Amino acid sequence: MSPQMPRHIGIIMDGNGRWAQVRGMMRIRGHEAGVDSVRAVTEECARLKIEQLTLYAFSAENWKRPGLEIELLMQLLKRFLTGERDTLMNNDVRLTSVGRIDGLPKAVRRELELTQTLTANNRGTNLCLALNYGGRLEIVDAVRKLAAEVKEGKLTPDQIDEAAIAARLYQPKMPEPDLVIRTGGEMRISNFLLWQISYSELYVTDTLWPEFRAEHLHRAIVDFQRRERRYGGLVDRIQSKAGAG
Ligand code: IPE
Ligand code: IPE
Ligand code: MG
Repeated sequence: MSPQMPRHIGIIMDGNGRWAQVRGMMRIRGHEAGVDSVRAVTEECARLKIEQLTLYAFSAENWKRPGLEIELLMQLLKRFLTGERDTLMNNDVRLTSVGRIDGLPKAVRRELELTQTLTANNRGTNLCLALNYGGRLEIVDAVRKLAAEVKEGKLTPDQIDEAAIAARLYQPKMPEPDLVIRTGGEMRISNFLLWQISYSELYVTDTLWPEFRAEHLHRAIVDFQRRERRYGGLVDRIQSKAGAG
């Protein structure tokens, strides 16, 4: 049996600030350098025909950062959304997003919308940017939709099950991430896709995001392919043995 490729890879792109700081540069230089990693990883996922790549680009908690860093990050995001259009088109990549998009600056929203529209018919990798995203907020937003539907009499409380919640997330049709990579070494989730990662395989690397390239992605995928996913059950070979006893 050939090794399984992940359908959906999520990446917590961390370590930009540290990358810059050890070089005596401003943190924003690390974020700028991180754009090259985004391009390299997106192109590699497109080449490998990965169905979805979700990149955690700005969390709902990142507003706690200094105003200048936020401002420069928003400028960089806008520049990314305009500057990468050719790369996205050449690689047949469709750009989508998750998060409270309404909370982003208008200029960013406009470029995001334009790039999403431009790439909407591409059939390769879905590059999903998590922007002003929080996993708990996503669940809150889903619950609000459900509550409104119950109030309108379209739904009864006992019809609310896991599928009903999943259907009201930002991108209800997305496959759940098979593999979540975090760069920068920290062993935490930081509010990334909480609902969807219940059975994702986690891979943490000390490599800082601006240094992450296709070879690092390959290492993560190879590691993923060695995992045994059980989803609370037993793998077939154990199951048949147990059954035989
Ligand atoms: C991740 O890099 C990018 C964003 C959160 C926008 P950081 O800016 O968190 O980098 P470190 O963790 O401080 O090194
Ligand atoms: C997670 O990184 C968010 C993004 C990569 C966008 P953070 O640097 O914000 O996470 P914490 O603060 O270390 O948990
Ligand atoms: Mg960080």
